[in-house]
Amino acid sequence: MMRVLVAGGAGFIGSHTVVKLVEAGHEPIIVDNFSNSKPVVIDRLEALTGSHLTWYNADLTNREITEAIFTQEQPDAVIHFAGLKAVGESVEKPLWYYETNMNTTFNLLHGMATAETRHIVFSSSATVYGNNPIPFQEDMEAVNSLSPYGYSKVAIERVLTDTAKVADIQVGLLRYFNPVGAHPSGTIGEDPLGIPNNLMPAIASVATGRREKLYVFGTDYPTPDGTCLRDYIHVQDLAAGHVAALDYLAAHDTKVRAWNFGTGQGTSVLELIHAFEKASGLTLPIEYAPRRDGDRDAFWADASRAKIELGWTAEKTIDEMCADTWRFQQANPEGYPDGDPISRPAQL
Ligand code: UD1
Repeated sequence: MMRVLVAGGAGFIGSHTVVKLVEAGHEPIIVDNFSNSKPVVIDRLEALTGSHLTWYNADLTNREITEAIFTQEQPDAVIHFAGLKAVGESVEKPLWYYETNMNTTFNLLHGMATAETRHIVFSSSATVYGNNPIPFQEDMEAVNSLSPYGYSKVAIERVLTDTAKVADIQVGLLRYFNPVGAHPSGTIGEDPLGIPNNLMPAIASVATGRREKLYVFGTDYPTPDGTCLRDYIHVQDLAAGHVAALDYLAAHDTKVRAWNFGTGQGTSVLELIHAFEKASGLTLPIEYAPRRDGDRDAFWADASRAKIELGWTAEKTIDEMCADTWRFQQANPEGYPDGDPISRPAQL
């Protein structure tokens, strides 16, 4: 059993990982400032896991508070999801993105030193592969400097790697492809604030009538149907991958290791839309639009390293990703409700 501080634990991937941690016998400690999530997620997680969860409403860009939480909780490991993640917004507000994403990382590392925490797994992204040839493999150089968001992932990977050379820590760099789906209960899922940028949240907002139509960005790519190919991965598989990575670090001497979390298969924009239509029984109003700036025609993972080393593979299909997304959307057409959770936060 490990005590695992989950930074950003109320967010989309963080919340699903909390459930997997409890199921695997670990003890999560959630820290979130609810800047892109809702406190009610804590109640949903307690209902799903049937256990009382320790959580803090705290901002990890504050070093004093971060260290105080580590002193109090003495975690064995950290899973680092805390950061800003909208590509377009990062171009508009680069300093805010760098400050938030970097300071959060620095403070978690200081906190780890305070409590002698040994393991950290980081929520990185396939975006670090930039224009490398596909499929992406972990030993390719992490290069993306297209946006402050992408570059903050590269920089954080570097900070963690350099720190591990001199500190008694082990680092897992988890490079996610395109996470979608929701917990099969329909009680937790993806609920981005504002206008969604990513494809599945955009589909969901059209399906629930929050947006009038779905724009398909680019239909003249060199792909079978002209739309971009991406490697969509179910958030439940992704969450299980975090537990596998933590268990691996605890059992090996590895200092730093990157793992791709994807299925290894490309699905086009139109294929995903059609799969969602099949799962929901709806016909979505679509408009073909010009290419979106910065989009690559196609990328997917070479997912073999995670399979060999972690014994992990993505198991859920595109149809399951769509069915689970739709279930969460139907149960929460307006997203998560506002308001305070019943569960009380831990106090410093
Ligand atoms: C995007 C980011 C990436 C980030 C990832 C996860 C860009 C250029 N890339 O990846 O850095 O790590 O999200 O947050 O923003 N699409 C539509 N209509 C929509 C929305 C998307 O056609 O309303 C298309 C896009 O053009 C793309 C595909 O759907 O071809 C997938 O887009 P998206 O979900 O944003 O993911 P990525 O571009 O792979």
